[in-house]
Amino acid sequence: MIVLGIESSCDDTGAAVVTDMKEIMGEALQSQEEHKQYGGVVPEIAARAHLEHVDEIVSACLQRAHIELKDVDAIAASAGPGLIGGVVVGVMTAKALALAQNKPFIAVNHLEGHALCARIAHDIEFPYLLLLVSGGHCQILVVRNVGDYERLGTTIDDAAGEAFDKVAKMLGLGYPGGPMIEKLAAVGDDARFSLPRPLIGSGDCNLSFSGLKTAVRKIIESYSPDGIVEHAILPKQDVADICACFQMTATDCLLRKLEKAIKYFKQKYPDGQHLVVSGGVASNTYLRSALKNLADDNDLEFAAPPIRFCTDNGVMVAWAGLERFRLGYTSPLDFKPRPRWPLDEDAPKAPGAGGVKA
Ligand code: KG4
Ligand code: ZN
Repeated sequence: MIVLGIESSCDDTGAAVVTDMKEIMGEALQSQEEHKQYGGVVPEIAARAHLEHVDEIVSACLQRAHIELKDVDAIAASAGPGLIGGVVVGVMTAKALALAQNKPFIAVNHLEGHALCARIAHDIEFPYLLLLVSGGHCQILVVRNVGDYERLGTTIDDAAGEAFDKVAKMLGLGYPGGPMIEKLAAVGDDARFSLPRPLIGSGDCNLSFSGLKTAVRKIIESYSPDGIVEHAILPKQDVADICACFQMTATDCLLRKLEKAIKYFKQKYPDGQHLVVSGGVASNTYLRSALKNLADDNDLEFAAPPIRFCTDNGVMVAWAGLERFRLGYTSPLDFKPRPRWPLDEDAPKAPGAGGVKA
């Protein structure tokens, strides 16, 4: 079984061909550089860039897989949530290819792409506890099965990656901010500044990063002659120290809520064995090792996708498409892309529930 997947929901145009033997036959990825000067993704620029590159990315991926379009069994695309202009480009491309080749089309929830991605690299059985941390989302979920999720907590304001990006922007470190913060944090003193841990005392598994970001802003403002962040002049070591404190505190916020989630997970799903992290922020090795320790302490196995599959890519979409396809879930060609699409809401899975049997 071979599935082609297309990703275009944010600023990465990706395509990949995967098999049910967990083989990645071919992949291609173009990360848009156009947004760097703006310090964040500009939706219209992203949509145009996807449109310009999607054909060549799909061709390159098929070429690397040494197959032709007629050899794939189904064609999947990220159909939301995300920036709608880009999502439409990927979905329309996938639908057109599916129609031309008379193959099934599969609308993949981008978050499900992140959620299932670790399963291509590791043997992870359902149910598992998932920390999904990306630029747009920050959730703690139980992955009960393909298309079947229980959401235990979510951010009430910024996503984790968004907080990394905003802190990096204030420090003039460019976009995306996560990798740069991680690099500088490695040489910083994480005890230098004390930062708040918003919502930490709440009894639920919800998260908040807005207050943490504001606290960082106040520190940076104190280095500015007129109190304006952009005018702040920070010694290199102080930038590294702020990065280290922010990364440690943000990670601690995630860990504290995960501790609560683990208690619930072990009680309600005693067969569950894995703690999985995914999404762009899961590339952060400091976070990965903290999560590994947390899993060890709680007799869970820790698993994460290989680092290059944490940020958006075609493989995660192709793999989620394959997981759906082998269960017989496909989508109608009039499936409407969804800018908002909660993972714990019904995805187009069962026949009659917005999907059709393959
Ligand atoms: O999953 P992703 O590629 O896009 C979304 O679906 O949002 O995640 C991108 C996010 C960005 O906010 C980026 O700063 C963050 O992932 N990120 C990191 C690291 N690498 C990427 N955050 C922390 N540490 C990293 N090493
Ligand atoms: Zn993503």
